[in-house]
Amino acid sequence: MSSKPKILVARAIFPDILERLKEHAEVESNQSDRIWTTDDLKAALADKDGAIVTGGEKIDAHTLGNAKQLKIVSNIAVGYNNFDMAALKAANIMATNTPDVLTDTTADLGFALMMAAARRVTELEHWLRGGDWKKFSIYDAPLGVDIHHSTLGIMGMGRIGQAIARRARGFDMKVRYYNRSRLPVDQEQACGAEYVDRETLLKESDHIILVMPYTPENHHLFGEKELALMKPTATLVNIARGGIVDELALAKALEQGKIFSAGLDVFEGEPSVRPELLAQKNIVLAPHVGSATEKTRRAMIELAIKNCMAGLQGQTPPNLLSS
Ligand code: GLV
Repeated sequence: MSSKPKILVARAIFPDILERLKEHAEVESNQSDRIWTTDDLKAALADKDGAIVTGGEKIDAHTLGNAKQLKIVSNIAVGYNNFDMAALKAANIMATNTPDVLTDTTADLGFALMMAAARRVTELEHWLRGGDWKKFSIYDAPLGVDIHHSTLGIMGMGRIGQAIARRARGFDMKVRYYNRSRLPVDQEQACGAEYVDRETLLKESDHIILVMPYTPENHHLFGEKELALMKPTATLVNIARGGIVDELALAKALEQGKIFSAGLDVFEGEPSVRPELLAQKNIVLAPHVGSATEKTRRAMIELAIKNCMAGLQGQTPPNLLSS
């Protein structure tokens, strides 16, 4: 019998990194990137010591059902709403994620979606490609709203929220945030952000970015009531998780001009996107690519492997999650 640990890598990863991992572990991989059913995943976990998964793999009492020797599940993502932490704890299995390495890349995408939504970049591209650009018009053309000197409201002020706040300073924005708990004053000062209550943030922001984790309490946290409080000239960006926003309410608000525009990187039923959202013009859509640069994706998988190997070698993984 091999003395190497048995590891499942549930999704396709960079081939060179996979080859290196194989020097240290007996690996079952999925380089064809097939999407497994929960029963496939359960079967694949049954004889493994460690598993490296993405947010697409649900780790719960069912998928862990036959995983008698599993010691650690390592997520290639910072969010871990795909983990049932109580089930992992009950089975005495460690869980880890990949924070920090994706903070700036994800903050960049949040900023990009905000700018694209405010300046109608994708909508205007369709307009141009559709042959509607006949002349230069001062006002009789789709006009945008400003980013610079506007007020940015960030909901969820963890690492990514703070990185967005730091970017906003370069655009002379007034940055406000709402979070479950207020940041220490020195951290607020470091990112130039002022704490306000939720209602003030909703009512007074020109741009709102959602960056909080997805928890059962946050399900459809942003719905008709919240959208109704926003300015009709405001934009909404969601780079957190789809389930945080009530997408039907958002589609309606966009259609009725209750808010100016939106930028979404995440969707409740992804990879499928509601037709009601696709039907709107004033929305910028991205296929969950917050961390999707090669450099960052490599750093994420390297960190996920480091976490997994540390757990299997009896060390405390650098990004051990507590339940
Ligand atoms: C991506 O959504 C992540 O949580 O890393």
